[in-house]
Amino acid sequence: MQLAQKTVWITGASSGIGKALVAEAARHGANVVLSARDKAALVQVVKDSGLTPANSLILPLDLSRYKKFDAEVKTVLKKFSKIDFLINNGGISQRSLAAETQIQVYEEIMAVNYFGNISLTLAVLPSMRSRRSGSIATISSVAGKFGTPYRSGYSASKFALSGFYEALRAENFKENIQVSIVYPGFVKTNVSLNARTGSGKKQGTMDTGQSVGISAEECAQRALAGIVRGKNEIYIAGPKERFAVLLHRFFPGLFARVIRKAKVT
Ligand SMILES: NC(=O)c1ccc[n+]([C@@H]2O[C@H](COP(=O)([O-])OP(=O)(O)OC[C@H]3O[C@@H](n4cnc5c(N)ncnc54)[C@H](OP(=O)(O)O)[C@@H]3O)[C@@H](O)[C@H]2O)c1
Repeated sequence: MQLAQKTVWITGASSGIGKALVAEAARHGANVVLSARDKAALVQVVKDSGLTPANSLILPLDLSRYKKFDAEVKTVLKKFSKIDFLINNGGISQRSLAAETQIQVYEEIMAVNYFGNISLTLAVLPSMRSRRSGSIATISSVAGKFGTPYRSGYSASKFALSGFYEALRAENFKENIQVSIVYPGFVKTNVSLNARTGSGKKQGTMDTGQSVGISAEECAQRALAGIVRGKNEIYIAGPKERFAVLLHRFFPGLFARVIRKAKVT
């Protein structure tokens, strides 16, 4: 992978897929910028990945406070002079029926997964456009391709990302900016523990789906390989999940009957 001396900015770098993306980028010689809220966890990820103060930058940020990330972008450019890859990975999931979910929970999920995500992209974009070079990726989900029970807000936030990033890709083709959308299925991380219930509390338990999912390391390796190769869409899903994507696309009526009985936790 051609990552030596490249600057890779990863959000959600304190845990799960983001932490594994940091390790993978470090292994390939990248300069890595790590963002999330938990600074102590980011310090530990830097240590575990064998990064040094010279080739890493810990930049805590809260995606739900998304109004402006210009200061953070300035800090990165001051240290590494350019941003080659932005990987928008930070996010939260949901485990609640729509009928039992408060509107504030939808607002929080959209703030973190959608507005926080695109706000950072909008802040990074001008520097990439002026260099006519760069790659922006977002970690979506197969739930960004089809709606499933218990994920109404989560699916909506991931669908919204597809709309935004497909438009962004078309608009920036001539500026030589690559836009990749990654669609993982179940990955064994803390995502279900951190997922919001209808009242906004964390679920606090590991779902069966995640517990038997692929490792965060495998997900990160496949995601980064696809991003560096400049793929538009990267599916990292098991046969059942891939089948569901195809069923949804080509046989929506049949999909609607199947998904209402599917085990999604
Ligand atoms: N695991 C799966 O099965 C799966 C499947 C498909 C897609 N995904 C997607 O993969 C991405 C990573 O999830 P994961 O599975 O690695 O879950 P995770 O272990 O819960 O990690 C989530 C990451 O997002 C960060 N985050 C959450 N809220 C944030 C906020 N307000 N501001 C900044 N950062 C925030 C967390 O850091 P702090 O708490 O330190 O802020 C953490 O680093 C998410 O976008 C998720 O939707 C996961």
